[in-house]
Amino acid sequence: MSKLVINHLDLYYNDFQALKNINLEIEANEITAFIGPSGCGKSTLLKSLNRMNDLVKNCRITGQVLLDGEDLYRDIDINVLRKKVGMVFQKPNPFPMSIYDNIAFGPRTHGIHNKTQLDEVVEKSLRQAAIWDEVKDRLNKSALGMSGGQQQRLCIARALAVEPDILLMDEPTSALDPISTAKIEELVIELKKKYTIVIVTHNMQQAVRISDKTAFFLLGEVVEYNKTSQLFSLPQDERTENYITGRFG
Ligand SMILES: Nc1ncnc2c1ncn2[C@@H]1O[C@H](COP(=O)(O)OP(=O)(O)OP(=O)(O)O)[C@@H](O)[C@H]1O
Ligand SMILES: [Mg+2]
Repeated sequence: MSKLVINHLDLYYNDFQALKNINLEIEANEITAFIGPSGCGKSTLLKSLNRMNDLVKNCRITGQVLLDGEDLYRDIDINVLRKKVGMVFQKPNPFPMSIYDNIAFGPRTHGIHNKTQLDEVVEKSLRQAAIWDEVKDRLNKSALGMSGGQQQRLCIARALAVEPDILLMDEPTSALDPISTAKIEELVIELKKKYTIVIVTHNMQQAVRISDKTAFFLLGEVVEYNKTSQLFSLPQDERTENYITGRFG
């Protein structure tokens, strides 16, 4: 069974339909990329996968999203869902507190207060996010004193600290330099061994470099969804071809 199954998903902001009959299956331990021009609904769909749109007034959703076969709008407790599905945003958003406390924040919320246990989680998460060596001697310093690329890896570590199944990433490298971007890409490839990853990117080379499958969106619809190698080498739809060859958007 696929990790996530999206069935006939429609999403409206007031009268505006931002997602139209989305049907997608997202496999465990794969990286799935969402690409498409600005405003086509990539972030909206990503946010539908952890119910972030619940916070948006006048947002209405019909259809189904199944996580391990359970309807995440009906069958799954929202707190359980938030633990299972982590999210990383375009702009690194560390909390204004120490590096240690950023990572310990989620586990503490979930009731872990034992110092030894927290120390372990902090180290493990920072190692998984490939930033431990850079910060191990300054864990009690403010996270705001880190570089952008470091902050983004910290945010990934923070998402991993509650041991999610799924990691959603919305343009996680668009604010970073090429070296930090390469580090995050390497990291994401490493993480797919343990996690299911969905990443929104405007960088088509990035989609080619790291993703297993790619979905191309246009005006709230999925135009084409296929293996990344297939979609970029032999697109089935003319609109996909126009987009990936830069003739559009
Ligand atoms: N809270 C909201 N209220 C009303 N309309 C919204 C809201 N959020 C998004 N939209 C609209 O829904 C559509 C899809 O937006 P979305 O942010 O999902 O696009 P996107 O593909 O992520 O674009 P980008 O590449 O620029 O990030 C757009 O037309 C946008 O204006
Ligand atoms: Mg977006």
